[in-house]
Amino acid sequence: MGLVSLLKKKNNTTLFTTPSHSGKFFIFHKFYQWYRADISETDTHNPTSELEEAELRASKIYGTKYTKFLTNGSTGGIIASIIASKAKRILIWDNAHPCHKNGAKLAGCETIEYSLPLDKEWGVYKAITIEKVKDLLNNTAADCILITSPTYEGFAANIAEISQHCREKGVKLIVDEAHGALYPFSDKLPESAVKYADYTVQSLHKTAGGLNPTALLHSNDNNPANALSMINTTSPSYPLLATIEANIHFLNSKRGRKKINELIETISSLSFPQGGDDITKILIKKEGLSGYKLSEILFDKYKIEDERTNKISTLLITGIGTDKKMLIRLKKAIERINNEK
Ligand SMILES: Cc1ncc(COP(=O)(O)O)c(C=O)c1O
Repeated sequence: MGLVSLLKKKNNTTLFTTPSHSGKFFIFHKFYQWYRADISETDTHNPTSELEEAELRASKIYGTKYTKFLTNGSTGGIIASIIASKAKRILIWDNAHPCHKNGAKLAGCETIEYSLPLDKEWGVYKAITIEKVKDLLNNTAADCILITSPTYEGFAANIAEISQHCREKGVKLIVDEAHGALYPFSDKLPESAVKYADYTVQSLHKTAGGLNPTALLHSNDNNPANALSMINTTSPSYPLLATIEANIHFLNSKRGRKKINELIETISSLSFPQGGDDITKILIKKEGLSGYKLSEILFDKYKIEDERTNKISTLLITGIGTDKKMLIRLKKAIERINNEK
């Protein structure tokens, strides 16, 4: 069977990709046992028992009005946010993840697309600025704006300023923080939107050690439960929901915060180049080589797999499962490539 064979295949490469647990399940080492308890709940979208209590505890940790556990990735969270916001005209970045446009379509609201300039130094898009937001809100009749922060490559917007401006204008703010799930747990990373935005969506599986496709939807506006019930199954995976609870408690624990701090300190001590605002996203380039060629050399010669590449640079994602050994291996490979003529 093809899919079974795929899972059995041994991967000998060093992964700087999502999911960032890199196959080390130290947060949920008993996960295999939990799968035996594949139970059903009759009304998970308006839960009254353990799930509701777990989500309430999570909302206290994040300082939000509501925090919902998602087993359909940030994709489900973004779509549900747009539905829950009751937006009529929404501003959407023309280069955003496809779920932004799909969400607006499903919610039946009018979209107004905006573009952002490409950063010529790295070949990637930078995050939206407050000036751009002001301009957009002054020149459109939008009642909601959806922004991506951080970008895939770790460029973060000034969320505090943007959310204040949106509030003054009576415009709802949805933040796609899919790549920023570690932000609430470290002051050495960009500030998280969870306390500021009306809706913030984070993928736990991308950087925070979660299993595919676990994610979170935080709301300081309406309760997203009804919106979620419109797009989700009525039979969610309880084992996956349990990993979300365990994941959050790990991130918020002394051990979890120490782990995040160690990751940041190791990257910093190895002096990787810093493209964006988030040190855990390593963006590299070499003069005379395209990002694609750099990616190819890393993979073919050094068995290192990157997350994403463009004409100029290559992105290596790190997270909870990235250890010092992996980072030293990457550093040595980069040094060797840089020393090659
Ligand atoms: C910026 C951004 N938003 C949303 C998503 C969707 O996230 P998920 O895979 O958790 O559904 C992605 C996935 O790559 C993404 O890069």
